[in-house]
Amino acid sequence: MLIHSLEQTTLCRGGFRRTALHFKGSHFTSMPIGPASCPQLANCPTVIVMVGLPARGKTYMSKKLTRYLNWIGVKCRVFNVGEYRRSAVKEYKKFDFFDPENKEAMKIRKQCALDALADMSLWLEGEGEVAVFDATNTTRERRQLVLDYCQQEKNFKVFFIESMCDDPEVVAENVKEVKVNSPDYRNMNKDEAMRDFLERIRMYQKSYEPLDTQHDKEKSFIQVHNVGQRFLVNQIQDHVQSKICYYLMNIHVLPRSIYLTRHGESELNIKGRIGGDSSLSFHGRQFANALAKFMEEQDVNNLKVWTSQLKRTIETAGGFHAPIEQWKALNEIDAGVCEEMTYEEIQEKYPEEFAMRDQDKYHYRYPRGESYQDLVARLEPVIMELERQTNVLVICHQAVMRCLLAYFLDKNSDDLPYLKVPLHTVMKLTPMAYGCKVESFYLNIEAVNTHRERPKNTDPLRKSEDALETVPDHY
Ligand code: SIN
Repeated sequence: MLIHSLEQTTLCRGGFRRTALHFKGSHFTSMPIGPASCPQLANCPTVIVMVGLPARGKTYMSKKLTRYLNWIGVKCRVFNVGEYRRSAVKEYKKFDFFDPENKEAMKIRKQCALDALADMSLWLEGEGEVAVFDATNTTRERRQLVLDYCQQEKNFKVFFIESMCDDPEVVAENVKEVKVNSPDYRNMNKDEAMRDFLERIRMYQKSYEPLDTQHDKEKSFIQVHNVGQRFLVNQIQDHVQSKICYYLMNIHVLPRSIYLTRHGESELNIKGRIGGDSSLSFHGRQFANALAKFMEEQDVNNLKVWTSQLKRTIETAGGFHAPIEQWKALNEIDAGVCEEMTYEEIQEKYPEEFAMRDQDKYHYRYPRGESYQDLVARLEPVIMELERQTNVLVICHQAVMRCLLAYFLDKNSDDLPYLKVPLHTVMKLTPMAYGCKVESFYLNIEAVNTHRERPKNTDPLRKSEDALETVPDHY
């Protein structure tokens, strides 16, 4: 019998898997080649293994990276071994728990790491794509255990991120900011907590073996020195890993605030028409003046102002003396054939499109236009540049601002298109230890309401009454 064999790549949960197709006589049968071959594939599940002494920003990087990967559409989750330890040992007593010579504690710590690995692999075998194994992993022995488990038992790709820091000021700041507020130190005063934590670091230092270009030359890793001063990158295997490196090379931890606002109310806003490129209304111009005054009162150093290339944002930035940059990437979502129509007109002319958008607003793409998902991809360079900058005011549009906010506030793609971003309101985002502080300032200039709640009934093709009842949402 003639047997032809070829390979195909199929999309499945967690990425792409390869299948061998065997042609037997008149039909094909398929046999999975993976998972043994999985580490050679472009998109099989990846485990990011953090490495580093305590207070080197591993948890900060883990959370931030996870937020970024989820935002760009890669399902990512952190598995923090410290949390497993806290649930196994209810009351933390003192630093000697982390002494490598404390055999009893070492047993508990290893079990916690194994429990976290087991949960992580369950998740990766289900919906997950990238998992971050957030632990110190400071010894070769521990890293080998994680590597063997992930690669040999599970066929996951492994990528190490090691954070090394010998700048005492950065370490001291990190100890102060994060660790002293840790649940471990709930019942200790701050000085006692600080002393204990420094001793804990000393315990880890006893057995610390950093990644090494000789010993670890076959491993894929990035070593981050002094929070981004210098990097060492080794054996990048794929697109996800190169994206992770690129991201880590752009972020910083300097104090700053990002201000987000929409343009002032526009002529088309008043008419309830979406898109287009109209000028500001009377109230929109009032907002532009109020915004310039508000930002002056904020008194931020080296403020930069970014707008889109549409008139309404450029006019809103008219009263600023700060450097202004126009970004095409910040232009509003392209509504394609629906540009400059009212919602009533869209529903009348394209009833199926109207209903489909209510079904899945994030993925819905306007005919000859864009979806929110497209917009996130378009905004990625803006996010990357915002990460590099210090104080920036971004004057943008409703859909654009929702995407930017979702990144900073870790909102999922289902909630993203319904985030409330009213006109004439400034949102100030200040990065904190593990997230962002948000302050919202309404500048007291009236404007039309362009927010439309998530429709309650989202049956396809059913006329959405919610949509008609409310003021048209422009995007
Ligand atoms: C912890 O228990 O807080 C951290 C565990 C580890 O060393 O990774």
